[in-house]
Amino acid sequence: ASALRHAARRVLLRNWVGNSTVPSRSLYPHQWSWDSAFVAIGLRHVSPERAQRELETLLAAQWGDGRVPHIVFNPAVPLDAYFPSPDFWRSSTAGAAAGAPEGVETSGIVQPPVHALAAWLVHRADPATSRRRGFLRRLYPKLVAWHRYLTTHRDLGGHGLVSVVHPWEPGMDNSPCWDEPLARVEPAPPGSFRRADLDHGSAADRPTDLDYARYVRLAADYRDHDYLDAEAPHRFAVEDPGVNALLIASEHALADIADEIAPEVVPDPVSEARDALCADADAHRRRARELTAALVERLWDAEAGQFLCRDVRSGEPIRERGVAGLLPLIVPGLPRDVVHALLRTVCGEHFGLGGTVRLVPSYDLLGHAFDPRRYWRGPAWFNVNWLVERGLRQHGQTARADALRAAVVTAAAASDFAEYVDPRTGAGYGSREFSWTAALALDLLK
Ligand code: DGY
Repeated sequence: ASALRHAARRVLLRNWVGNSTVPSRSLYPHQWSWDSAFVAIGLRHVSPERAQRELETLLAAQWGDGRVPHIVFNPAVPLDAYFPSPDFWRSSTAGAAAGAPEGVETSGIVQPPVHALAAWLVHRADPATSRRRGFLRRLYPKLVAWHRYLTTHRDLGGHGLVSVVHPWEPGMDNSPCWDEPLARVEPAPPGSFRRADLDHGSAADRPTDLDYARYVRLAADYRDHDYLDAEAPHRFAVEDPGVNALLIASEHALADIADEIAPEVVPDPVSEARDALCADADAHRRRARELTAALVERLWDAEAGQFLCRDVRSGEPIRERGVAGLLPLIVPGLPRDVVHALLRTVCGEHFGLGGTVRLVPSYDLLGHAFDPRRYWRGPAWFNVNWLVERGLRQHGQTARADALRAAVVTAAAASDFAEYVDPRTGAGYGSREFSWTAALALDLLK
């Protein structure tokens, strides 16, 4: 365990670039939004202050409308090292109407809102440093604005849930869940862009060229409408249970944060400002309950025994078993029958945990599109397994959580902290020394 701890720390130290961490030195040379949140959760055991800065750097690139961009570009990295590069997104010009910040280039789409949860966990690792630096006090209004962007601009279905408008937004780029809604999107012409990911990753582990041509089309359409949600066509719009579950978990974290900073902001307990903050905590808890009710109402499928994505354009559920449909396990206060069914599904034939596999795959083991090595079409990912572990533990499934914890740590070490692994054999794919793999293995070792 101590050798592994040492190796994981080394990855995090190597991938730190001064104010934030790159997911991988080769494949992803900038700052990614949800990667940073997961990295901070591990980095808090190495340097609580760096973990705080990781989140601060990301949120410094927040847009005026509250969105937190999925990539914050490092200006020192050559343009051709990653596609789509800043000259594709053109955030400082095309994003001006939505309040893109000046002096930093970002993408215009978002990733799952894990940040408030991460901020809370980072704070708890070293409350004294956090208080001294005013970490939560400074981050809290930004996190509130971020959630508000999602629950207002992104309630495209009109039922209180957040929609994603690009397959990169839920973070599970080429999940079979997107095949059907994506098929409606006209691909960008093949010669109109050049992928950089294939310079570093094997084509068999990555999304296909046709996927990419559609990703490019969707992002360009959004950009060409100035990233304004009310004006963009959003031909791809999906309510995803993973994104919404993470929002709910983060909304609970915001309540804890509001409680925590209340006495710090205003020492006088009877002042109005302090009452306002306490009221905020209640408002966050209420919002979390409302989101939870909407999640169950809109996305729970009792027959499948899991949550399903809903295609907002067709209005229909997407009948594919993606692992995002299990992530609501981290949501407190789900109905008991839902929890029991989810637990059966995690360990049943489709996801096989503790039976045919030791790590939860990203997609149905029996699904028609299952591919054990292609990105989000089957491989097991470490952030997903960290979340499932947390969910199992929260529901008192201690033995299963312990077994999963051990499996995550073992697979991370054996694969040199691979980006993703074959859920059946543990063989590593994608990049190595991947930051969140190291960070989350470290977190589970604690
Ligand atoms: C990529 O570039 O592969 C990412 O997953 C999208 O941000």
